[in-house]
Amino acid sequence: MFAVYATHAAPEAPLAALKIGERPEPDVPDGWVRVKVTHASLNRHDLFTLQGISGHPEGIPYPMILGNDAAGTLEDSTPVVVYPMMGSDDWRGDETLDPGWHIPSEFIHGTFADYTVVPRRNAIPLPESLSPLHASVLGTAWLTAYRALFSKSGLRPGETVLIQGATGGMATALIQLGRAAGFEVWATSRTEEGRTLATALGAHRTFSSNEPLPRKVRAVIDNIGLASWTHSVSSLARGGTLVMTGGTTGFDVPLNLLRLVADQLTVTGSIMGTLDDMKRMINLIARTGIQPEIGAVLPMERAEEAFRAMWEGRTHGKTVFTR
Ligand SMILES: NC(=O)c1ccc[n+]([C@@H]2O[C@H](COP(=O)([O-])OP(=O)(O)OC[C@H]3O[C@@H](n4cnc5c(N)ncnc54)[C@H](OP(=O)(O)O)[C@@H]3O)[C@@H](O)[C@H]2O)c1
Repeated sequence: MFAVYATHAAPEAPLAALKIGERPEPDVPDGWVRVKVTHASLNRHDLFTLQGISGHPEGIPYPMILGNDAAGTLEDSTPVVVYPMMGSDDWRGDETLDPGWHIPSEFIHGTFADYTVVPRRNAIPLPESLSPLHASVLGTAWLTAYRALFSKSGLRPGETVLIQGATGGMATALIQLGRAAGFEVWATSRTEEGRTLATALGAHRTFSSNEPLPRKVRAVIDNIGLASWTHSVSSLARGGTLVMTGGTTGFDVPLNLLRLVADQLTVTGSIMGTLDDMKRMINLIARTGIQPEIGAVLPMERAEEAFRAMWEGRTHGKTVFTR
């Protein structure tokens, strides 16, 4: 079948490991289903897979079909979206705490192909009001944004959240979800275009990266890491919460414990979300009519253009591949 895959780990030049061609069709284990992919969206994680960056000590077994997220149809034509968190058969409860959790393209093949194969519970039927195009972006960046905002930040409607970054898949999701939830949404961006996009998506105020804020905020959500860390910590009000969801610019950061102690700050990580989070988010999006920001839609055959744009920092919102 047609597939977009990584041939090996290429830490410095990830596009050198990107191949577009043919791969064998996946087997369908008992209790799993085959999804015919119609839409699949790109995540920074796909660049990490090409670079060989993995949160799992076992590493990535190449060649590996890329892609975490997809929407498509089951054999009986039911439209579905893939919930990407998979794990141990006997795990019950919060999927993000399962020691064996993983997402497509880490141990099993990903979604950038004619077909992807997932446990039956991971294929969520789409409500009528949600298109497969919009559903295809929800699995990773949007799910993480939902959990960070609604389970981890401690925010109540009316309180102020600072989103670090504006153009990214997760940043746009945070701005759109935060606005719909009734938070006062502030966002930073390195560029004027990013700040304009943030405003268009519902941010109440925007700032340049690392610009001092007019007042401190109840919560900050940061997926940038090293480049924004100091600003994130210093922007928190007493008792505030910093939710770290990524480290695009680096994970090793300086930390002065005095600020944490004296101002009673909470710093927490957040990763992906539960199946219930995903279903609740789908309901929220279907009910509020949020249209996830999609910067580009292109045939999967042209995946290399999109990978290059993300590597060079030229994407905004989500990029969707169609089949
Ligand atoms: N915890 C989780 O479960 C989870 C899930 C999904 C993603 N992530 C992580 O979250 C991060 C963002 O993912 P994404 O898919 O949203 O990526 P993306 O679409 O490439 O977005 C990159 C974001 O980083 C900002 N940024 C600031 N400084 C940057 C720099 N020097 N280089 C590149 N970007 C910079 C950009 O903001 P401006 O352009 O507006 O400045 C933009 O908002 C990644 O590290 C990813 O691994 C974590």
